[in-house]
Amino acid sequence: MKRALIFTLTTALSPALAEEVNYSRDIAPVVQESCAGCHREGGGAPFNLTDYESTKRKARTIQRVVEKRYMPPWHATDGDIPLVDDRRLTDGQIELFKKWVEAGRPEGDPADLPAPREYPDGWKLGEPDLVLKMADAYELPADGPDIYRSFVIPTGLKKDRYLKAIEFRPSTPAVVHHSLFSVDTKGRARKADQEDPEPGFAEMPIGEGSGRGIGGWVPGASPRPLPDGLAHHIPAGSDIVLQSHFHLTGKPEREQSEVALYFDSKPPERHFTTIQLPPAFGAFSGIDLAPGESETVVTDSFELPVAVRAFGAHPHSHYRGKSLSMTAHLPDGQSLALLDIPDWDMNWQEEYRFTEEVALPAGTRLEATVVWDNSAESSDNPVVPPVRVRWGLESYDEMGSIDLFVIPEGNRKQSAVALKTLNNAKRDHLVWKAGSHVVGPDKLTVFGKLRNEAIARFDANNDGILGRDERARAKQSLQAVLP
Ligand code: HEC
Repeated sequence: MKRALIFTLTTALSPALAEEVNYSRDIAPVVQESCAGCHREGGGAPFNLTDYESTKRKARTIQRVVEKRYMPPWHATDGDIPLVDDRRLTDGQIELFKKWVEAGRPEGDPADLPAPREYPDGWKLGEPDLVLKMADAYELPADGPDIYRSFVIPTGLKKDRYLKAIEFRPSTPAVVHHSLFSVDTKGRARKADQEDPEPGFAEMPIGEGSGRGIGGWVPGASPRPLPDGLAHHIPAGSDIVLQSHFHLTGKPEREQSEVALYFDSKPPERHFTTIQLPPAFGAFSGIDLAPGESETVVTDSFELPVAVRAFGAHPHSHYRGKSLSMTAHLPDGQSLALLDIPDWDMNWQEEYRFTEEVALPAGTRLEATVVWDNSAESSDNPVVPPVRVRWGLESYDEMGSIDLFVIPEGNRKQSAVALKTLNNAKRDHLVWKAGSHVVGPDKLTVFGKLRNEAIARFDANNDGILGRDERARAKQSLQAVLP
């Protein structure tokens, strides 16, 4: 009785003591919620933050990185549309880390620890319906230019399935810059694979039979199921193709990726598509960064011919990307900031999902802005002193665009018609951007009448003409990004 009274008095008199931040009660819940998803065995981060000892050891660094908002990684600011899984800590949570370090990193009472979290089988989305693995590991050399390679994995599916989500797991995360997934129903990839003695085959250009895109993986990405009523159709017997981009690490590596597939039991009730601005990852936007230039801006805009509901956005750029944003200007004069990435980081190519679908009426003008920084002052610039940088597939080249994921309005039938109208408008926009080098209804050739522009972009040795290798590179690069 007496002890209890004294205790109450002390805490009442000394709020600092009463509020002393400890690990078990205050820090562990935040770390478990916001850090341990990655900072655990197989979570992708370089060390674990799963218990008192590991967190205590890193406490000072943790305080520094959370105060700078470098961790948890999250590069979008508040636009007009809230985003799913917004990882940012609150100011109060950041303050907790500071107070904990100041208090001497006490453990507190382990009885106050939150219940441990389960991560079934290591897959972030839980038990998959089907796990597919590359048949053989691909051997990567220590050094050299980036490597683009495609790998075919037969699904072995006996009947059609509807894909809700796909999760990618690299065996050597450090070497995979990104991987794009597609479905091949025609066996083209399989054939290309058989003709190449090594595992996989040199990258199959998109639009040349690599099939339908079904998503991708980039470092830091969280796999997310499609919204209700949407799915990718995966016909029986299809192959999944992984188009992987490797950035060599300085030592020989092996990569044998796995993907986990999650299916829906019924066919999708709605259709969706992607509006990419500028299209073809900026291939036709004249990206040409002068050495030392700290702000090169490219904008692009596109008017929606039909009403859609937007459900997410995916920015993409390389090292020198500085900021990316997309705004919707509605016909009634209202503007909506859909996505704003003020401080781009190539290592965190997150796909962002809106918490609610955003209705965008026909006549809405979408506007995207991409900015690059090719100055020596930029800590992200991989080449200092800076050099001229143009558009291209490699990380040392540049790209920049934002994909907006949209569902045409209407019931299944109406939205199918609207989808066609939208896809035609997208095509017209791409053709307009690309200039006049179009032959046939769905075949774009690289050169045609845009020889000068092509020279500006792919004349690697700056001799004013495109040599044989430069032409081959140009062709490969452009084909890879055309829809
Ligand atoms: C989405 C995955 C992810 C989440 C969530 C995450 N981290 Fe990290 N963290 C990483 C990766 C990957 C690295 C190594 C690469 C890097 O430093 O960017 C890293 C690096 C770090 C570093 C080392 C930084 C340095 O400068 O050496 C610290 C400290 C850290 N994280 C703390 C945290 C804390 C604390 C949280 C939660 C508040 C957190 N991380 C949340 C993935 C994550």
